[in-house]
Amino acid sequence: MTQRPASCSHAPGDACPDGHGHDTGPSLVPPPLALYVHLPWCVRKCPYCDFNSHAGKGALPFDAYIDALIRDLDQDLPLVWGRVVSSVFFGGGTPSLFPPGAIDRFLQEASARLRFAPNLEVTLETNPGTAEHGRFDRYRAAGVNRISFGIQTFDDAALQRLGRIHDSHEAEHAVRLAQDAGYDNINIDLMYALPQQTLAQAAHDLERAFALAPTHISHYQLTLEPNTVFFARPPQGLPDEDSAWDIQEHCQALLAERGYGQYEVSAYARPGYQCAHNLNYWRFGDYLGIGAGAHGKLSSGAQQHVLRRWKHKHPQAFMDNAGTPAAIGGDEVIDAARLPFEYMLNLLRLHEGFSLRDFQARTGLAPGVLQPALATALERGWLHRDGGRLVPTDLGRRFTNDVVALFLA
Ligand SMILES: C[S@@+](CC[C@H](N)C(=O)[O-])C[C@H]1O[C@@H](n2cnc3c(N)ncnc32)[C@H](O)[C@@H]1O
Ligand code: SF4
Repeated sequence: MTQRPASCSHAPGDACPDGHGHDTGPSLVPPPLALYVHLPWCVRKCPYCDFNSHAGKGALPFDAYIDALIRDLDQDLPLVWGRVVSSVFFGGGTPSLFPPGAIDRFLQEASARLRFAPNLEVTLETNPGTAEHGRFDRYRAAGVNRISFGIQTFDDAALQRLGRIHDSHEAEHAVRLAQDAGYDNINIDLMYALPQQTLAQAAHDLERAFALAPTHISHYQLTLEPNTVFFARPPQGLPDEDSAWDIQEHCQALLAERGYGQYEVSAYARPGYQCAHNLNYWRFGDYLGIGAGAHGKLSSGAQQHVLRRWKHKHPQAFMDNAGTPAAIGGDEVIDAARLPFEYMLNLLRLHEGFSLRDFQARTGLAPGVLQPALATALERGWLHRDGGRLVPTDLGRRFTNDVVALFLA
């Protein structure tokens, strides 16, 4: 590592804003820690979905799966001893298929093993087709304080084409049930650029979402993912790239007008309601991944590497082996040469961008390793300086993949 030049004006130990690349010493403070819990079953598999989700057949083994999650957590605990957990996210699959008692048992067992932050955010992904009266109160009593609804669209014909199990009225009713149960932190997932969708229809979806006053809206462009029914047999009438772009731009403007600030490629929130769990991913924080197919990421700033660990994807194989090394699908160490790329892959999704000090704190690397890629990104107008931060420009956001590729070693 190079020595700190005498011309540097910053304090010793601070990230060098001039990108000299000298060693300012590794960060010894670990990043925030989140807990992701994967619940893999759905009523039916949607034709566009490539998540690790499986149509549940017959009675689902909720209790056995919770037991397996606890064994899985026990196995990973030595990786995070003493660290505080800032958020828990039950993702899927359809976590709302799990009865509140099962969620409660998991959270109790987890809190006996981990240090939960006092303002812990606990999100439960919910398919509106599984929302039952009375359940939301009990999830809340268990500790869930944020509900994320997969609504996708309020157009009933489109919902059918997407293979969804609910109609638009059930979706609205489900959100109201959650609000009546006292949830003030609610996300609605919508997808746009749907088969046969016009710009007016996409805008109308947003109007119906606004009428429910959620605190957060995730607005995803439908993508055709390999290994899905839609990939094998693309639906008729998919908007072309230009139309999809027009929809996106128009919807971004509508969301901004209604006070939903965009903070990530697909995420919009009312002030104070950004999703802490997802922000932690994008800020290159750490997370444990528990459950079938779950991915975790744990950094070792002082040693300048990151451990990525994932679990067996298939629910039964996961349950049979949870708590033993056989449940671990793989461990991969991301070394210092690849860390800048991995960091940018996440950070450049965020409108807030990053500071060199953040980069150093998360990776343990001296900011100079970002050169010459950083200089190129600035020169091409893909990033700009905003105070002490480096922030993607509109152009940079359009070409995120190209910007990130600059940082491949
Ligand atoms: C794992 S799903 C969880 C929600 C819940 N399972 C449901 O669908 O109601 C998270 C969200 O990802 C989005 N999503 C899934 N597949 C997608 C695709 N191919 N393209 C765009 N968004 C997708 C959907 O908006 C979905 O609600
Ligand atoms: S309900 Fe959600 S997780 Fe399940 S298949 Fe559909 S989109 Fe995927």
